[in-house]
Amino acid sequence: MIPTVEWKNGIVRMLDQTRLPLEIVYNDCKDYETVARGIKELWVRGAPAIGVSAAMGLALGSRSIPASSFEEFWPKFEEICAFMAATRPTAVNLFWAIERIKKFVQENRDKGVEAIRDLLVQESQRMLDEDIATNRRIGSYGSVFVSDDDNLITHCNAGAIATAGYGTAEGVMRAAVEEGKKIHVYVDETRPVLQGARLTAWELMQEKIPCTLITDNMAGYFMYHDMVDLAIVGADRIALNGDVANKIGTYSLAVLCKEHGIPFYVAAPLSTIDFSMESGYLIPIEERNPDEVTHVFGKVQIAPDGVKAANPAFDVTPARYVTAIITEVGAFYPRDIHKLADGKTDPEKLRIK
Ligand code: MRU
Repeated sequence: MIPTVEWKNGIVRMLDQTRLPLEIVYNDCKDYETVARGIKELWVRGAPAIGVSAAMGLALGSRSIPASSFEEFWPKFEEICAFMAATRPTAVNLFWAIERIKKFVQENRDKGVEAIRDLLVQESQRMLDEDIATNRRIGSYGSVFVSDDDNLITHCNAGAIATAGYGTAEGVMRAAVEEGKKIHVYVDETRPVLQGARLTAWELMQEKIPCTLITDNMAGYFMYHDMVDLAIVGADRIALNGDVANKIGTYSLAVLCKEHGIPFYVAAPLSTIDFSMESGYLIPIEERNPDEVTHVFGKVQIAPDGVKAANPAFDVTPARYVTAIITEVGAFYPRDIHKLADGKTDPEKLRIK
């Protein structure tokens, strides 16, 4: 497993995922603006990875504030938080991470600005470590849904590099394989930015997990021919009613699964659940540059000059298409997700298995 993002000698190093699978390149971010640019331009992408990167970016940002008192420091730090929050609107882990860091800073305000700067590096590293542990737990709760010789299908990339490590949907695959199950994965290429073809296929091959790359419009063909046993994807934001926002095309895949009686699982940490959002319909959807649709890699033009193109980066899969949501505290029916919100309900009572 290679690091997605790391703090090294006062610099945030981000794996430039736009260059994968052809090159493994790390970009050094010496200031928080470069971290924000890296998130916007998809050097590091995937909801949990965005959250951890933002936290490290804020640790970096705290060092650029010339303040000796907390009163001087805080308003400037809040501005940096707002700048970071303006990078990508859909993955709630970004806002979750920023809120956690802000709360942490407030809790430590009496320690002084210099100490806060150091503590922020430690806290962002803690978030990274916690994310890996969380994904391992998601893996063990999810692998029970995978049987020996199963054919899986996935969309986008919810692998190690979409997180701090191990992955969510791919974490489930990894855990199943670690338990000795033989699996095979159909990987949707995931137009327009090709996270499936470039990242998931690459990661699965690194892990020696058998996979077949397909274009997004082939999924129905393989389901019709009884060649898919289950689907598993990650999530960018889950609403209280169990609706799931994930990479554009996830909704179509889920509808196809329902038509063919194939279970459709979503693997995501609790930090992806937006406990303030009633319905998926309200989730803000990132609209990206239409050039991603008219061109491949921003270079090769595949559509007529001047054609109008749309590029919503995510869609919402209504809860009725989701078989279960697999988190680090267990797998739940989407209709039960809201019960986890108050922190009073024991997840054990709600777990599916
Ligand atoms: O635009 P991206 O590449 O950030 O979209 C990523 C996804 O949709 C992932 O499936 C999701 O963030 C889960 S990552 C564990």
